[in-house]
Amino acid sequence: MSEMKENKKNIVLGVTGGIACYKAADLTSRLVKDGFNVDVIMTPNACNFVSPLTFQTLSKNQVVTDTFAAPKYWEVEHVALAKKADVFVIAPATADIIGKIANGIADDMLSTTVMATGARVVIAPAMNVNMYENVIVQENIAKLRRLGYLFVEPGAGMLACGDVGKGRMAEPVEIAEYVASVAAETGVNSEKTSVRDLEGKRILVTAGPTVEEIDPVRYISNRSSGKMGFSVAEAALDRGAVVTLVAGPVNLECSSGIRRIDVKSTEDMLKACLDNFDDTDIVIKAAAPADFRVENKAEHKIKKTDGNLCLNLTENPDILATLGSRKQEQIMVGFAAETRDLEKYAREKIKKKNLDMIVANNVAAPGAGFDKDTNIITVIRSADGSMTEYPIMSKRAAADVILDNVLDILRSR
Ligand code: CTP
Repeated sequence: MSEMKENKKNIVLGVTGGIACYKAADLTSRLVKDGFNVDVIMTPNACNFVSPLTFQTLSKNQVVTDTFAAPKYWEVEHVALAKKADVFVIAPATADIIGKIANGIADDMLSTTVMATGARVVIAPAMNVNMYENVIVQENIAKLRRLGYLFVEPGAGMLACGDVGKGRMAEPVEIAEYVASVAAETGVNSEKTSVRDLEGKRILVTAGPTVEEIDPVRYISNRSSGKMGFSVAEAALDRGAVVTLVAGPVNLECSSGIRRIDVKSTEDMLKACLDNFDDTDIVIKAAAPADFRVENKAEHKIKKTDGNLCLNLTENPDILATLGSRKQEQIMVGFAAETRDLEKYAREKIKKKNLDMIVANNVAAPGAGFDKDTNIITVIRSADGSMTEYPIMSKRAAADVILDNVLDILRSR
């Protein structure tokens, strides 16, 4: 192959059998246009949907399939591609391949290669809605997420089988952008792990929603998953900070080096923050605390009556504004989750809460917001009023961008 090709980052694209295979062809050509070298591995079922020749033509590389692979050639090929991959992508990913990876099964070219790779693996599921919602599939996905596999979530809509719901593979443009951001990080991360530029800094991070009980069985909450805050906490730990993470009820685990305080309500979160505020250099408030709580929480389960139920809601304290009013030397970073007028609301929140920086995101944009692994952030700093818009990236990469900005503010003081 030419010399130029060797300088390119290598994507290994696994294609499994599903109608979304035709979108994988589009994905291949986008990745090639974006400057990647793409090697495609197709399962025999994928070959029933689209000819290997299509991928060979688009990638300008031989396509690997099991159909003509003799066992000896197999051995060499799966290790070679596993090592070559900078990012390993599986799109479309069927329930079958997700199940195989999650359970350590390696019985064909694709599952063998993905098991042998040390690269980051990005999975774009595509299947019927009932299959996607099947608890076994969901448990497999949850297990893989915990193990660091990355997912580009399927969209909802009319599926090829006629059913309506979630299961349609994400659009090639979305997958290509995400893969590019992961590929960009593969270099950055290896540099970052050796940079302990927050050594000894004490960081207080909040994450997740809070819940406000209505009665012993019901509550008010919101859709925050906690992923952004947890990513900030992990990134800060990697960069040498002493991290306290105040987390609302979330389904996430964190490294043992992080001091984690689990809380339920907004008032609990406020107390945990106040208890730790004086000993903190940096506060990053990624949580989405419930703004209201029920005035008189019922001691027993509220029974149905003939009429409607009215709940009196009282406004909760604003944690960030409370901390902002007590600020000494701390650097205070807030978040602004908006669906419109992003800049206007974000700048208002900087003032109202006495912040040094705000991370604004449009939670309605594709690739951003609740329960996603990616985010699209805009950082506004109060000292100079500067505003920087960043492209779509993983929440972990966004965490590093946020910490880079914090460090910059610290150094400019
Ligand atoms: N925040 C907080 N305490 C609250 C509500 C919000 O500390 N009771 C923090 C969030 O953690 C976030 C920032 O304030 O860092 C902005 O949160 P957001 O929900 O976007 O804004 P609100 O201040 O709640 O205003 P609104 O809901 O009207 O947009």
